[in-house]
Amino acid sequence: MDSLVIQGGTRLRGSTRINGSKNAALPIMAAAILASGPSTLIDIPNLSDIGHQINLLRELGATCERLADGSLQINVTDESNSHARYDLVRKMRASICTLGPLVAKRGYARISMPGGCAIGDRPVDIHLRGLQALGAKIELNGGDITATAPHLTGTEIFLGGNFGSTVLGTANVMSAATLARGTTVIECAACEPEVVDLANYLNAMGAKITGAGTPRITIEGVKALTGTTHKIIPDRIEAGTFMVAAAITNGEVHLQNVQLDHLMAATDKFRAIGVLVEKDNKDGVSGCIVSSLRRLEATAITTQPHPGFPTDLQAQFMALLCIADGNSIITEKIFPDRFLHVAELSRMGARLHKEGPTVIIEGQKQLIGAPIMASDLRASAALVIAGLAAKGTTTVNRVYHIDRGYERIEQRLNALGAQIQRIDQKELDL
Ligand code: EPZ
Repeated sequence: MDSLVIQGGTRLRGSTRINGSKNAALPIMAAAILASGPSTLIDIPNLSDIGHQINLLRELGATCERLADGSLQINVTDESNSHARYDLVRKMRASICTLGPLVAKRGYARISMPGGCAIGDRPVDIHLRGLQALGAKIELNGGDITATAPHLTGTEIFLGGNFGSTVLGTANVMSAATLARGTTVIECAACEPEVVDLANYLNAMGAKITGAGTPRITIEGVKALTGTTHKIIPDRIEAGTFMVAAAITNGEVHLQNVQLDHLMAATDKFRAIGVLVEKDNKDGVSGCIVSSLRRLEATAITTQPHPGFPTDLQAQFMALLCIADGNSIITEKIFPDRFLHVAELSRMGARLHKEGPTVIIEGQKQLIGAPIMASDLRASAALVIAGLAAKGTTTVNRVYHIDRGYERIEQRLNALGAQIQRIDQKELDL
């Protein structure tokens, strides 16, 4: 198992390109199941989660091939197996977004029920409620969910839950409704840019979806969809993570392939604490320049569904606020238990007080390097970011989590001036 060894204290400077969005790519790859003929997906990042989704699609009868230009071609050639096994699903919860496409296209899906994970309980009840409303018969057998429907029928569906809407639930129901008979209206749909990207892909395949990006999505069912070519949107969470890395090191970094309009809540917080964020659309490529020259100020953050502040940047901002001037407060409203980074940041000298879903952060002048343990994808990113600013050496163990969502992160940060070495854990134990 790999560890990242970080020598803190260098300012990040230079330019890097942000990859295509993991969380847009995963449901779009699943939706390729709905089509006849190949889809070519451009800017699919090279991540372990994408590898797991490719393995699952292959098991479900699709060929998946990386073309010379790096795009991914998916073509379903065999519809005989519609069973997503536990050993594939447990590696990546996003495999649940094959459920809607499978039942809509093949009339049957069997998917192992995903378990909880490091960021807390992750139920799928709203996904199931939505598919049931479309007419699918849902059963739970031996830990597997089965969904059966000779055909789906359009209807009105409310997809709200106690923590707002559901991103992958909206993806599942919207994808399934494209092939339903009649019209489906989803109320309280997730408004995340990844849902809009999926709707754009489905529409390019022949679906009739309007309203994606708003809480009401209308889907007029069509008889069939055909494969198409689609470019994945830039990863707003990867962009936000590099922005925090630039800010915490008082650096100046140019990020290419960023859609700042997908990051408005985060940009607002950056500016509120004293980070300069400027749009930079050179040569028709959208991007931004992030710089900070002084000690940052404290702030209050509450995570919310889009367009509110994203839960997927909560841990990274906590690392940043650990060294801000004054006391900050972060409240997590999407995944109230998503705080595994708190104990690890505390090992680096951060002063954090957790009370339920809220953490009070007493800003310190400096963090001190320490051996720490990565627990989930975004917490791992936060710990690497903390290590960039800390005095001395930080060793982040179990970094396989980070490879799920960030491609070659240490190489890309090193190209900006960071000093990070990837080491096999065994070498550290010697
Ligand atoms: C997506 O997960 C993302 N994953 C997550 O990113 C992200 O944190 C999350 O959306 C919120 O933005 C992917 O896109 C692959 P939800 P998703 O359903 O769709 C509750 C990362 O780090 N809920 O929108 O699974 C749920 O417990 C990952 O890249 C139900 O109660 O999240 C949570 O409190 C981690 N019942 C809230 O809704 C359900 O049926 C929002 O979760 C579904 C969800």
